[in-house]
Amino acid sequence: MSMLLIRNAALPDGRAGIDLLARDGRFVEVGPALGAPEGTELLDAQGLLFSPPFVDAHFHLDSTLSHGLPRVNESGTLLEGIALWSELKPLLTEEAIVERALRYCDWAVAKGLLAIRSHVDVCDPRLLAVRALLQVRERVRPYLDLQLVAFPQDGVLRSPGALENLKRALDLGVDVVGGIPHFERTAEQGAASVRLLCELAAERALRVDMHCDETDDPSSRHVETLAYETQRLQLHGRVTGSHLTSMHSMDNAYAAKLIALIADAGLSAVANPLINITLQGRYDSYPKRRGMTRVAELQAAGVPVAFGHDCVMDPWYALGSADMLEVAAMGLHVGQLTSAAQMRACFDAVTAVPARILGLAGYGLEPGCRADGVLLQARSPVEAIRLRAQRLAVVRGGRVIARTPAATATLSLPGRLAQVDFAA
Ligand code: FE2
Repeated sequence: MSMLLIRNAALPDGRAGIDLLARDGRFVEVGPALGAPEGTELLDAQGLLFSPPFVDAHFHLDSTLSHGLPRVNESGTLLEGIALWSELKPLLTEEAIVERALRYCDWAVAKGLLAIRSHVDVCDPRLLAVRALLQVRERVRPYLDLQLVAFPQDGVLRSPGALENLKRALDLGVDVVGGIPHFERTAEQGAASVRLLCELAAERALRVDMHCDETDDPSSRHVETLAYETQRLQLHGRVTGSHLTSMHSMDNAYAAKLIALIADAGLSAVANPLINITLQGRYDSYPKRRGMTRVAELQAAGVPVAFGHDCVMDPWYALGSADMLEVAAMGLHVGQLTSAAQMRACFDAVTAVPARILGLAGYGLEPGCRADGVLLQARSPVEAIRLRAQRLAVVRGGRVIARTPAATATLSLPGRLAQVDFAA
């Protein structure tokens, strides 16, 4: 029997001075001043924030850490990124994808990110990336939940053989049906792709997560079809529209109708602020659009909105470090989500909301939940975002699996404190 007592934590719901007792990988008691049997491992939170782990609802683990291979994206556009990925694909090996993905998962664990939904490109008859990430999913299973989306990067209708490859990927055990309607040859083909992919998901009782309307073109309205098909096929609660950047540029009158349809259908949305702010607006002069979807309006209509990292050091994005607090901070700024409730929701957008989108079982801090979480060098969710707080300890199944020293600076100034830790 393994026991862990997390002593004197602040929780994301505002409770302070809370102990969490874990036995055999699950929380069994949560409350003030808990006792614990002898031999229990102790983690003293010292009043700091203990949160359920970060969850990334949108990532690409097959391309991560490939930046510069075979060259960098000079224009910074989505389309050059896709072309660059096509140049890289023939050069990939299964071993190299596995090695890079595992390295990224190490970064993720160190940052308290213990669940990732990763798209995996299926437009390759060898299904090299699929086989690599299925292998990675098994290898990381003890410490990280990896959910895979069969993603037809070059278009399920546009790319010959893509539909068959996508089905083969699902047969091999990929979890979720993906799509990219705005990249199909015509708007009609895009709508047809949404229909056939949703039907495929309904047949197989799978979830759906589509790259949808990732463009500044306000006439890209595939999310409307996604909402319609979700309702027609009764897929409520199982379908996610990722990116939805065209909504940023839509006419307000149409957006108001669309958001109600999205809410009605029980769709979830994932914005990817770091990527949206860099890839979108590239055809603008000034003013340049931000490109992120209408987060505040979707949330106000009751649509669950998560923030995803999307890319780290790949053909689309040269930066990143698996830090979901950086993602939350960018989402907060780009969306001008500055009220107290909105800032707080930005923390949920990288924790509880994506956990719901992935359908993670046993996520949370209640008794019975899996004893996973992260001790942050901050006293509240908003302070965690402000400071991109250090992950002092990361807990998985009631065991501490990563530690990072506290961030402090030592000053040499007359009449001032010697140690500064940026706490307010
Ligand atoms: Fe993506």
